Amino acid sequence: MERRRFGKTDRLLSISTLGTMRFWSTGPIRNFPEIIHLSSGKTGGATFAEMTKDCPGPFFPDHFLDEEAPMMTPEEQAVLARQSRFKVHGRKKGMLKRSEADWLPERVRQLSPPWAETRRELLTRWHANPDHARLWLEIGFGNGDTLTHMATHAPQDRLIGIDVFMEGFSALLRRMERLHLDNIAVEAGHALEILETRGVTHLFDRVMINFPDPWPKKRHHKRRLIQTDFLDTLARAMTPGGLLTLATDWPEYGIWMLDHLERHPAFINAYGPRQPAPEPDLWLPTCFQKKGEAAGRTILHLAYHRP
Ligand SMILES: C[S@@+](CC[C@H](N)C(=O)[O-])C[C@H]1O[C@@H](n2cnc3c(N)ncnc32)[C@H](O)[C@@H]1O
Repeated sequence: MERRRFGKTDRLLSISTLGTMRFWSTGPIRNFPEIIHLSSGKTGGATFAEMTKDCPGPFFPDHFLDEEAPMMTPEEQAVLARQSRFKVHGRKKGMLKRSEADWLPERVRQLSPPWAETRRELLTRWHANPDHARLWLEIGFGNGDTLTHMATHAPQDRLIGIDVFMEGFSALLRRMERLHLDNIAVEAGHALEILETRGVTHLFDRVMINFPDPWPKKRHHKRRLIQTDFLDTLARAMTPGGLLTLATDWPEYGIWMLDHLERHPAFINAYGPRQPAPEPDLWLPTCFQKKGEAAGRTILHLAYHRP
């Protein structure tokens, strides 16, 4: 099996209970910077240099290279690369009650959209008129305030919400039941992964991304939802003529959004280059907006056509 020297950019992948160390090189493959898992049960991660600085002897690289630690197979690398790309940061389950944890995942599965290859087929399966109904997507719907508000005001439309935060699903489902809404479907998970694995193409007339997590620290910027590869996938998922709206209360993330969207060939600012948009129709201020405003931040709205 091929062996190689580890460099400064390599990351510790795992330490088995037997002390075998496995590594993943970040060198040749961009965008997978932190694939770290300690199978000994510890969490967190470190570069090879950090891990080994206080561990002379068996962990010294040259010695390690002579050990019998297996290298990763290409299949293992592919799986890990995928997991890393769709890694979700922050809390995922929140404060789910024990009783909710029993029924919620199944209920969420029952409410998954009737995915189809074409928009027409999907809307027809969903008992909507494809010539009149619009298909919406909200990424990161939180507690579902906006999703249920839109669904109430546009009963002829169909709306899909994607989020990774399970506590939000519980709140959304309760509200859907109370309001007797049957034009909302949901998916749990990383939006990019869902859109890619479903092979979603030319489906959505409207996409909303409201107050995505700002990840203000520079070292966390790579966790931001708005990234070029995410916009590539989103552009594919939208219908030509579709509209993407975004809102943030975080000025620096607003500039980040503008920078990424303005240079993306599949999106055209609906109000002119680098211009903000007015509040979208039927706008509902959510708690994230109120929190931002209470802290003295102004809300930036953006709107982009997908030509
Ligand atoms: C700050 S909250 C905003 C919630 C809602 N849009 C609002 O305005 O009230 C951000 C939401 O995005 C979700 N989220 C974060 N990363 C995501 C991802 N990769 N895919 C889907 N949802 C995500 C979080 O779980 C959270 O519910």
